[in-house]
Amino acid sequence: MNVALKIPQKPSKIKDQMLFIDGKWCQSASGKSFETVDPSTNQVICRVAEGDAADVELAVAAARRAFDSGPWSRMSASERGRLIYKLADLIESHQEELAALESLDNGKPYRDSMAADLPLTIKCYRYYAGWADKIVGKTIPVDGDFTCFTRHEPVGVVGQIIPWNFPLLMQAWKWGPALASGCTLVLKPAEQTPLTALRVAQLAQEAGFPNGVINVVPGFGPTAGAALTRHMDVDKVAFTGETSTGQLIMEAAAKSNLKRVSLELGGKSPNIVFADADIDAAVEGAYFGLFFNQGQCCCAGSRLFVEQSIHDEFVAKLVQRAKSQKVGDPFDPETTQGPQITREQQERVLSFIDSGKKEGATIHCGGGKPNLPGYFVEPTVFSGVTDGMKIAREEIFGPVMNILPFGNIEEVVERSNRTQFGLAAAVWTRDIKKAHRMARSLRAGTVWINCYDVFDAAAPFGGYKMSGVGRELGEYALQLYTEVKTVYIAQG
Ligand code: NAI
Ligand code: MG
Repeated sequence: MNVALKIPQKPSKIKDQMLFIDGKWCQSASGKSFETVDPSTNQVICRVAEGDAADVELAVAAARRAFDSGPWSRMSASERGRLIYKLADLIESHQEELAALESLDNGKPYRDSMAADLPLTIKCYRYYAGWADKIVGKTIPVDGDFTCFTRHEPVGVVGQIIPWNFPLLMQAWKWGPALASGCTLVLKPAEQTPLTALRVAQLAQEAGFPNGVINVVPGFGPTAGAALTRHMDVDKVAFTGETSTGQLIMEAAAKSNLKRVSLELGGKSPNIVFADADIDAAVEGAYFGLFFNQGQCCCAGSRLFVEQSIHDEFVAKLVQRAKSQKVGDPFDPETTQGPQITREQQERVLSFIDSGKKEGATIHCGGGKPNLPGYFVEPTVFSGVTDGMKIAREEIFGPVMNILPFGNIEEVVERSNRTQFGLAAAVWTRDIKKAHRMARSLRAGTVWINCYDVFDAAAPFGGYKMSGVGRELGEYALQLYTEVKTVYIAQG
C-alpha cells in the first residue's frame, strides 16, 4: 500500500455539463439534461446535457468535415502524434483532479484511480502517440510490370460507445488508436459516468486538436448510442459493454451501412488453481482478480476452479482475505471497495447472490448490503458451486466469488471452455509444462499464468466467442481503425 498517497477532499460543486461538438460546448438540441449521481451517497453531482439523434447528427457532420477537409486531413502523421503526446502530458499534469472526478462519478476508491486508471490511461495515449508516424503499408512483388503497394488509411469517422466501469481508460483505448490512425470521432460515454470524458475533451481542446476531430455526446444507449450505430456517415463503431448490447450494435451496423464493428463484451473468466501452485500467491491473485473495481471488470475471474486436494485450505484463506475488504467511502484512505455503479446494478448483484443461495451453493461471507447510503454490496464468497448454476454461467459484475472444485487437467480444461464467453483465463501452477499446455488449451483472448489482470497498452486485449470481435490495444488495434488500400502503378 502506498502510504505516501495524499487523498484529496471529495470534489464539491461540479458545474452542469454540456455536449462537446465541433470544438464548441453546447446544450442539447432538445434542451434536455440528465443527472449524474455519486454512487457512494446517492446524491446528484450535477446535470449533463442529454444528447440524442439531432446532436449525434451535428457531431457526425463535424467529424466528417474534419476528416474530409479540415486541418486534420492535411496534418502530418508526426504532428498528429505530437498532439496525442500533449494530451497525455495534460492528463498527467491533471491526474489528481481526474482521479478524484473518476472516483466521484464511478465510486471506485481514489487510491485505485491513482494506482491503475490514471497510469494506464496516460501510458495508452503515449503508446499510440508513438504509433502515429509508424503506420506503414507494404511493397508487394506482383507479376507483370507493375509497382504494387498498400496504404493503411484511416477508416474515417468513428463512433465510440463506452461503459461506466473504467471510463477514462476505455476512452483512452478508443481514442488512442483512432487518433493515431488519423480518424475523427464521436464518443458517447456511459450515462452513469460522463464527467471525465468531458474533462478530457476539454484537455484535448487545450492540446490543440482541430475542431471536429473529437466530439463527445453524453446521452443514453437506446437514443444517442443507437443513433450513432445506425448512422450512414459513421464508418466504424467501437463498443465496450454487455454482450446483448453488442448484438444490437452489430445488427444496427448490418442494417445501415455495414460499418466496421469492434466489440469488447462480457466474460465469465475461469481462474484455475492447481495443487502445485504457490497457494498464497494464488489466493492473492484470485482475490484481486475478482474483487478489483468492485467486481465490475469484464475479465473478472468469476469462475474460480480449485483442485480438490487443496480446496478446503484455499477456500479458508480466500474467505479470510475477502473479509479483510474495507467497504466504504472511495475517498477514505482505508477503503478497498467502493459502491456498485447504480441501484440497479446493486440489486442485480444481490439477486445473483439470492439465486446462488437458492441453487444450493455454500455462502461463506457477505451476501447482503452494508448499512450505508450508497449502492454497496458486501464481498461475498460461495463454494460448492456447480457448472449449471446461474452464478457460474452469467456475468454478475459484482463482488461475488464462485468456487468450483475440480479433479484433473482434462476435466478443468473442458469445463473452463464450456461457456459462450472467451475473454480471459488464468492458471496458477509451478509446472512449466502444465502452464504451456493450459495456455494453448484455453479458448480465451488473454491467458494469465501466475498473475491476473495484467494490462499493457502494447499487448492486445479482446474476446473469443461471444466476448467480442477484434482486438484492442497494441499494434493489433490499428487494424480496427485503418482500411488497406492496394495501389498498382503500371511501369510500361
Ligand atoms: P450496456 O452495454 O447497456 O452499456 C454500455 C454502453 O452502451 C453505455 O454507454 C450505454 O449507454 C450504451 N448502450 C446501451 N444500449 C445501447 C444501444 N441499444 N445502442 C447503442 N449503445 C447502447 O451495459 P449496462 O446496461 O450499463 O450494464 C449491464 C451489464 O453489462 C453489466 O451488469 C455487465 O454485466 C455488463 N457490462 C459489461 C462491461 C464490460 O466491460 N464488458 C461494461 C459494462 C457493463
Ligand atoms: Mg444496458
